[in-house]
Amino acid sequence: MCGIVGAISPRNVTPILLEGLKRLEYRGYDSAGVAVIHQNRLQREREIGKVAGLEAKLQSSELSGQIGIAHTRWATHGKPSVDNAHPQMSGTDVAVVHNGIIENHERLRDQLAAHGYVFASDTDTEVVAHLFHYHYQLVNTEPNDERLIRAFRETLEALQGAYALSILHTEHPGALLCAKVGSPLVIGEGSEEHFIGSDPLALLQVTDRFIYLEEGDYALVTRDEKRIYSLSESGMVEVERPIVRYEHGDHAADRGEFRHFMLKEIHEQPRALRDSLAGKFGQAGELLASSLGPNAENILRCVKQVQIVSCGTSYHAGLVARYWLEALAGVPCSVEVASEFRYRQVVVPENTLFVTISQSGETADTLAALRFAKTKGYLASLAICNVPGSSLVRESDYRLLTNAGPEIGVASTKAFTTQLAVLLWLTAVIGQAQMPAASRVELINALRSLPDHVASVLALEPAIERLAAYFANKHHTLFLGRGTHYPVAMEGALKLKEISYIHAEAYAAGELKHGPLALVDEEMPVVTVAPSNELLEKLKSNLQEVQARGGQLINFVCEEAHFKDNDNVTNVCLPKVDDWIAPIVYSVPLQLLAYHVALVKGTDVDKPRNLAKSVTVE
Ligand code: F6R
Repeated sequence: MCGIVGAISPRNVTPILLEGLKRLEYRGYDSAGVAVIHQNRLQREREIGKVAGLEAKLQSSELSGQIGIAHTRWATHGKPSVDNAHPQMSGTDVAVVHNGIIENHERLRDQLAAHGYVFASDTDTEVVAHLFHYHYQLVNTEPNDERLIRAFRETLEALQGAYALSILHTEHPGALLCAKVGSPLVIGEGSEEHFIGSDPLALLQVTDRFIYLEEGDYALVTRDEKRIYSLSESGMVEVERPIVRYEHGDHAADRGEFRHFMLKEIHEQPRALRDSLAGKFGQAGELLASSLGPNAENILRCVKQVQIVSCGTSYHAGLVARYWLEALAGVPCSVEVASEFRYRQVVVPENTLFVTISQSGETADTLAALRFAKTKGYLASLAICNVPGSSLVRESDYRLLTNAGPEIGVASTKAFTTQLAVLLWLTAVIGQAQMPAASRVELINALRSLPDHVASVLALEPAIERLAAYFANKHHTLFLGRGTHYPVAMEGALKLKEISYIHAEAYAAGELKHGPLALVDEEMPVVTVAPSNELLEKLKSNLQEVQARGGQLINFVCEEAHFKDNDNVTNVCLPKVDDWIAPIVYSVPLQLLAYHVALVKGTDVDKPRNLAKSVTVE
């Protein structure tokens, strides 16, 4: 989704801005732009399509300056076009980049038009540019920093919605303005220079020290200082925010030996799982819940029910966890997509733990659901997240971090399996009192064996790659699973559809005869997740129903289950693993299948069409 980069420095900032935009490309966008102040004049270039196109334009225009802002836009208000790309300007003095949505933009647009402002785009961002220009004219003082920041605050107070933005004004070539209301923004610290970014990854080439702006923060940033204020403070009182060192390395630019980030991330899973489980067990196998935050153990002891809320792949992780929490911890659990939950009248049973799951920690619906839940009397909130400084983590009472490392491919892979691993660990923590000691030890051993099992499944890649060609001309696919593997089938279908654009539908295998069986014929591939467990015989009967209708079965099965290949059935055998970790292990071949089908189809694997990595708008 949209990305912001800004810089103020004694050197030319254009290369910094451009590199920042490249680092944000993975998030998905359809146009890009840059504006710098050069000799007290704004220079701007914008282009639709890839950042490379903007780069080519910049080479011929030789745009340079010591202060600038840049943006990748993912269209919401107005189609992808040069006119709608950011930075948006008001006259020749003001330039604005903006992530998120200004909800009252139509009313503001009418008011500004009545004041004589003429609009050159369909965007809500241009409203911010003119509104700031308007307030700047009204603040009747010298053109000093006070005037700038007061006009900025008045602008922000008139805006409704969730956004991050940055503004330049030609009368202030030494000041960058920025604000965060519902959408992430960081200030990067340099030596006699400062940067801003909607994601620290955009700035790792120039700094590893960041201030994570808090909700309602707005700031005036110069080369030497930053003055941060908060909209929740009634006056213009400066607030202190800590500088945090980014400790996750700079992986963004590095695909290593792999053709795509997605493939790299699939293969990183043994390491990501190991890192995500590190520090969660004591010497004697005890579960170290203190990593969740102060007093977490006491709170978790009181949990009588769990409500999980998340989106997309993270929602699928929640669906698997429901089976675990109910079966192993004996705790009732509901799971819901955030976009529905946040608008529902909820009834909250006593002592319900509210759990959000999110790779990015910035998903707008999940964040809004958390904020909504905080008004509803839940016992406490817990964020399961891959980004330590994210809004979700900062706004939750407790946090359970997955140490998967940055995930660049739009299709979530290592984030999903690490979410599952920590959810299984959380289940053991919540169920501690009621689980027999032997079962707990078994579960812990299974979790510890997980990275090795995943590594052995990755070795099956050549066999999975051979299957991919079969899907090349297919338009539809069914995915089937039962029990914990029903959500795994859902995740497999999501992976396939998002990167190969083949329509894929997941069903609980027992539901087949209630409708979807009508779709099955010799043209329909049916992918089945079939580990050896107590539902296997039932699943086999469901597969007979498919075979009898001529469907082509591709089964991911346990090597001990003795499935036989024939003209209509291809089996890929996985090692026998403990039932509880099987959903994690069986997710991996489905990721590889989706990846190789996408390769055969020639799609843009890491940046599939219409999708964004971090969905920061509703
Ligand atoms: C699919 C995918 C998305 C995300 C969803 C939630 O591969 O990545 O479905 O899972 O947009 O994102 P997070 O987990 O960042 O909240």
